[in-house]
Amino acid sequence: MKTFTRRSALCLGAAALGLVIVPARGNGGGSEVTVWKDPYCGCCGGWIAHMEASGFQVQSVDLEDMEAFKDQRGVPADLRSCHTAEVESYLIEGHVPAAAITALLAARPSAVQGLAVAGMPSGSPGMEGPDGSPADQYDVIAFGEGEQSVFMRFAGKQQL
Ligand code: CU
Ligand code: CU
Repeated sequence: MKTFTRRSALCLGAAALGLVIVPARGNGGGSEVTVWKDPYCGCCGGWIAHMEASGFQVQSVDLEDMEAFKDQRGVPADLRSCHTAEVESYLIEGHVPAAAITALLAARPSAVQGLAVAGMPSGSPGMEGPDGSPADQYDVIAFGEGEQSVFMRFAGKQQL
């Protein structure tokens, strides 16, 4: 059970980080996030740790057939990544930084169904390489009502 051990280690890391970061900013405001993920995907655990360290409360559900789930929930095919999450009725697809989700929850746009980071850009939360490895630039896309627009742009965890 390698994945389980790795996930436990990541969760411990998040708890340790949370002690330092949450009282200082607590930008997740304790919002509850449910994440559906493949049981064998390690990077999803990395994203969960990032969300917890940012003050979100995360519940995770393992699902074998993520594609069927994404079809059912209406995640646009061109925006898909590994895990799919939900926070306060918004869908969150892939390695979306907590800062983007906090901004979404502050604005609560009604035409937006969710945010997505397509694929798995390296350096995005949960996709960190070894120290010093280059981070991709990527967009957080807002989708809904058949439309897509750039919501925020990042390089690694840095907002541009
Ligand atoms: Cu991933
Ligand atoms: Cu994932």
